Amino acid sequence: VSRGKAATLAPPGMRGWDFGDFPYGLEPLTLPPPGTGWLPDAAQELDLRNCYLSLLSADLRTDPVKADDLERLFWFRWITGHHVSFLLWRLLAGALAGLAAADPDGAATTGRIIEYVRAYSAMLLYTGSSTRKIYNETIRPSMFRLHNTFSGTWSADYRAVRGLFRGRQLPTGISYGADALQREVRLSNRVHADVAARLVADGRSLLQRQLEENPAAPAPRAWTSVFDCYFLTVRASATGRDLLSQLLRRCKAVLMDLATNGLYPAVADYEEFVPDQLRAPDIESCERELADIVLRAVGLATGCLEPAGAPESSAEAVS
Ligand code: HEM
Repeated sequence: VSRGKAATLAPPGMRGWDFGDFPYGLEPLTLPPPGTGWLPDAAQELDLRNCYLSLLSADLRTDPVKADDLERLFWFRWITGHHVSFLLWRLLAGALAGLAAADPDGAATTGRIIEYVRAYSAMLLYTGSSTRKIYNETIRPSMFRLHNTFSGTWSADYRAVRGLFRGRQLPTGISYGADALQREVRLSNRVHADVAARLVADGRSLLQRQLEENPAAPAPRAWTSVFDCYFLTVRASATGRDLLSQLLRRCKAVLMDLATNGLYPAVADYEEFVPDQLRAPDIESCERELADIVLRAVGLATGCLEPAGAPESSAEAVS
């Protein structure tokens, strides 16, 4: 294992910014081939559990972003926010497999799934917190340069959770908290639509734009490897510990960014970013509680926290 690779798979240190080589730098994400969910067994990983506990009391401030560096900050958020989302999808796939295997602890697993879905909503808000100008002048063209129909549907890791997010049917084996889970999934779909509408005037993706402009063009292929290359994702074997360390590294960096700059940095010009009709109290509370929601997901993954439990599960269980 090269020194560089080993460093990206090690748990973060607790002093100062140590992600990438400079504040708001990037690191590649090592993921195993798609298709396997991730059910972390953190019991053996005492140092990772301690790492999570230290995060709770660490001084998370770093260099605040200056107006001239906003492009670097939003680029970091775009790539690193996607990485955290990929890891959350793997965690979700692992928990869904637990439910499908008739997990006797079904209520707790549903509670866990609900919290991971909420953490994904939080990451959508974080990842998409760019100004409209930087999104349209830097981020969107960078995807277009690789492919004119570059699309989220190309993510190989999303496939295991697509059914859940499309909400057509409840996960197999769910016995408690189905309503609460459906509400959480609907919220995440609204957040996705909200972020899209904030950043792109008509919320249209590159894929939709191309299909509109060239309706007769052949259907594009789903280029999963182009998607991986764009998002600095290396496919190689990775242990559960490697995934947990990579999650901790990223979450610490995200929490430092939020503690220092806030979700919508004061030096960024959001003039065009007028709150629109899509704004709603549940989305706003997800924005306000973003850091706590992310921390809870890491607490669950490291086994330091138990799921809050599906809200109406106890009522259902006794009736
Ligand atoms: C903020 C981070 C984002 C993430 C993690 C994300 C993720 C995804 C994923 C996984 C899909 C596939 C859904 C499926 O197959 O059912 C998707 C589709 C889509 N996304 Fe996003 N998305 C993000 C931002 C955006 C933005 C900024 C737009 C604005 C244009 C957008 C517009 C769409 C559209 C229209 C689709 C439907 C498929 C397509 O036309 O490509 N998303 N997204």
